[in-house]
Amino acid sequence: MKITVIGGGHVGATCAQLIANAELAKDVYLVDIIDGIPQGKALDMYESMPVNESDTRIYGVNSYEETKDSDIVVITAGLARKPGMSRDDLVIKNANIVKSCAESAIKYSPEAYYIIVSNPLDVMTYLALKVTGLPKHKVFGMAGILDTARYRSFISMELGVSMQDIQGLILGGHGDTMVPLPRFTTVAGIPVNDLIPKERMDAICARAAGGGGEIVKYLKTGSAYYAPASAVVQMIESIVRDQKRILPCSVLLEGEYGYDDVLVGVPVVLGKGGVEKVIELKLNDDEKAALNTSVDHVRTTIADAMEMIKNQ
Ligand code: LAC
Repeated sequence: MKITVIGGGHVGATCAQLIANAELAKDVYLVDIIDGIPQGKALDMYESMPVNESDTRIYGVNSYEETKDSDIVVITAGLARKPGMSRDDLVIKNANIVKSCAESAIKYSPEAYYIIVSNPLDVMTYLALKVTGLPKHKVFGMAGILDTARYRSFISMELGVSMQDIQGLILGGHGDTMVPLPRFTTVAGIPVNDLIPKERMDAICARAAGGGGEIVKYLKTGSAYYAPASAVVQMIESIVRDQKRILPCSVLLEGEYGYDDVLVGVPVVLGKGGVEKVIELKLNDDEKAALNTSVDHVRTTIADAMEMIKNQ
């Protein structure tokens, strides 16, 4: 197994480290355009492997030749938000970055699975899908696991119980319009709505939807990376070990949930075939309306981004 992580910033480097620590690949390539940064970070991580008891080898590179024949490529390159910015504010700059990364990576790794992490997530994943020309089961975005992990953490804080026992789901775009689903959330099998009053659940859902912004506000110079990187690695593990976990990921919808040619977070089965199945939930009217709003928003941003790329 060979895994390439594009972007040597906080998210990319943390992904590389977690992949190596879990020995999910024999070789990990960390790619960045800044000379020295991927080399230095990768060598530092390489030197931590004897202590971590992993035989994964991590290399830092500035070009794509060395990434040839990767099995999985993770694209994290791009700018992160600053306080007060929405993920959509990054669209122009990051579209060009993601397009050029995807174009370069696909030349050397035409058979790989591509996991997109750059923001605005759903738009960048759509772009990568178009640029690589790969089918939808091979190009998908990481967002739902992160959003759901934040939601699960907040439920755990509220109840003072183990995070392991909290199962939940957030659908839709990775932005302010995301759709947390308390009706599909349980704590050790108990419906969360039986345990937490509605006003408190509303507050938890709102905090989860603003969870990325909460971290940006603290950090001031960038956005979250520990939880995003953990989420990416959970996706990689499910593919590499063919676990067939059901995880919310951003995938192209072609009729599922009644939408076409748009890409948002939905639960999927992830295994050695990539996205092996999209799972459709029976949503009630309110949930459907919220998902509609989210899909409309993502669709508009995708159209704007594609138009902008065409015209430049
Ligand atoms: C977040 C960014 C990475 O949600 O989108 O933290």
